[in-house]
Amino acid sequence: MCGKCCSCNCVYIDDYENVSEGVMTAQITFRPYSSADRDICLAIFYANCPEFFAVSERIDYERFLDSDPVGYELCLYNGSIAGAYGLTGNGAARQNLSWILLSPRTQRSGIGSAIMRKVLSLAKMAGSAQIHIAASHLSAPFFATFGAVTVRESKNGWGIGLHRIDMELHL
Ligand SMILES: CC(C)(COP(=O)(O)OP(=O)(O)OC[C@H]1O[C@@H](n2cnc3c(N)ncnc32)[C@H](O)[C@@H]1OP(=O)(O)O)[C@@H](O)C(=O)NCCC(=O)NCCS
Repeated sequence: MCGKCCSCNCVYIDDYENVSEGVMTAQITFRPYSSADRDICLAIFYANCPEFFAVSERIDYERFLDSDPVGYELCLYNGSIAGAYGLTGNGAARQNLSWILLSPRTQRSGIGSAIMRKVLSLAKMAGSAQIHIAASHLSAPFFATFGAVTVRESKNGWGIGLHRIDMELHL
């Protein structure tokens, strides 16, 4: 049991010590999201509130998860769920990076970069020209390291003190 929800048999990364050295040699794998992962995704979302997500965004995330989102995947670190991300859209010119989030204990260990490498690879295979990212002022520097550029800034756009930064990543 992950201890974060009542019914699943999943192993959740927060049951482990902080991920630190060695992430580059650790096994990072992905699998499609299913409704059985809903509680654990929400637990990771809550763990990032209110620093990275406004509590009010919870409803949007729940709606997203309940829409059976094609392209949403879990990211596993040595078999344990570390986070999730989605590359969503119709596969045409422009796609969206949706709800990328990692358990706080795994952040700044290179896992997000591994996710972005997969995102870029998937988008290129789909023939996309650009990816839209609705970031915050806290996550924007991360996306900028992959070449994303700011196209719009909205002060307090996600909530008081959490500014919305819309970015485009051109492929
Ligand atoms: C944003 C997120 C996915 C990045 O994943 P990560 O695994 O932490 O990122 P990485 O370890 O691969 O970071 C690589 C580099 O990106 C930059 N970076 C990452 N997060 C950063 C941050 N919050 N601020 C500034 N730079 C950052 C750094 O240059 C970092 O290298 P360094 O740690 O050697 O300085 C993750 O931190 C996260 O889930 N954050 C909370 C949820 C969130 O904000 N999601 C984005 C919603 S749009």
